[in-house]
Amino acid sequence: MQNIPHIPVLYREVIEAFESINDGFIIDCTMGYAGHSSMILEANPNIKLIAIDQDQTAIDFSTQRLEPFKDRVEIRKGRFSSVIKDIIDEYDISNIKGVLADIGVSSLQLDQKDRGFSYESDTLDMRMDKDAPLNAATVVNEYSKSELETLLLEYGELRNYKKIAAQIVANRPFRSAKSLSDALKQHMPRGKKIHPATLLMQAIRIEVNDELGELKSLLQSIEDAKLPDAKVAIISFHSLEDRIVKQTFIRWSKSCICPQEAMRCACGNNHSLGKIITRKPLMAKDDELKENVRSRSAKMRIFQMDSYE
Ligand SMILES: C[S@@+](CC[C@H](N)C(=O)[O-])C[C@H]1O[C@@H](n2cnc3c(N)ncnc32)[C@H](O)[C@@H]1O
Repeated sequence: MQNIPHIPVLYREVIEAFESINDGFIIDCTMGYAGHSSMILEANPNIKLIAIDQDQTAIDFSTQRLEPFKDRVEIRKGRFSSVIKDIIDEYDISNIKGVLADIGVSSLQLDQKDRGFSYESDTLDMRMDKDAPLNAATVVNEYSKSELETLLLEYGELRNYKKIAAQIVANRPFRSAKSLSDALKQHMPRGKKIHPATLLMQAIRIEVNDELGELKSLLQSIEDAKLPDAKVAIISFHSLEDRIVKQTFIRWSKSCICPQEAMRCACGNNHSLGKIITRKPLMAKDDELKENVRSRSAKMRIFQMDSYE
């Protein structure tokens, strides 16, 4: 048995979300180390699974891990924003019964110092796909001061974003995440539970991997295709992503899409794509929090698409 480098978050809740699905296939947009994928395949013996990841290390590992299920699994490498479009084009969408995305980085990506995700890394990379054109070194060493300010404000929600951007520009080039976080530690907000450079690293990582753009595009493809009867479950790890998921699900649930100021409904009042299953996001319970510290910021929201009959 391989040594599993990543504990899947909210695993009971994920199994439960998809347990009523007895046929067709489920798309796991973020296969990672196949924790959720293998559990879903085990719990739903009649379904097929299409699993996506952009990280070759994850693909190599999970291809082996999912070997026992190989007749029911198709693995695809790429960004889920574009692979999901291909899948929707290629398959009869009435067979797509579930979509899961466990957004963000895996524990292994964080732990491997040469990947540059951790503030202790000796490199400045942060690409989930090692062949992608943009890496953290380019962002940190080549972005203009105002570009840095924008991403520190929007993706890191850092209050002193101007000061931090100015410090980066004044002290660059940086060659490693460690030297960057050491140089800027004193300007970062101090939290009890998180390393001072966490928000800085988050902001750069979101930019390098276009994480919010990927999430928005995934949700847009699902909305455009309407995926009859499908269940959509999204796990996110910070408020920026959770806000996108929450607002999108609220919009999808609305039947009337007239502007708020409209006196009378003129849209036909038939625009709802289905219903929100989780009014509040599902979060890890105490026993999971004890065994997996990463689960503390995980939030899962689930939407049930209509059958449109
Ligand atoms: C949190 S891990 C998923 C772990 C997985 N659920 C498990 O149980 O092992 C996220 C994975 O999604 C991948 N990923 C993140 N964003 C992606 C994107 N836009 N396209 C494809 N893969 C992505 C990362 O490379 C990483 O392997």
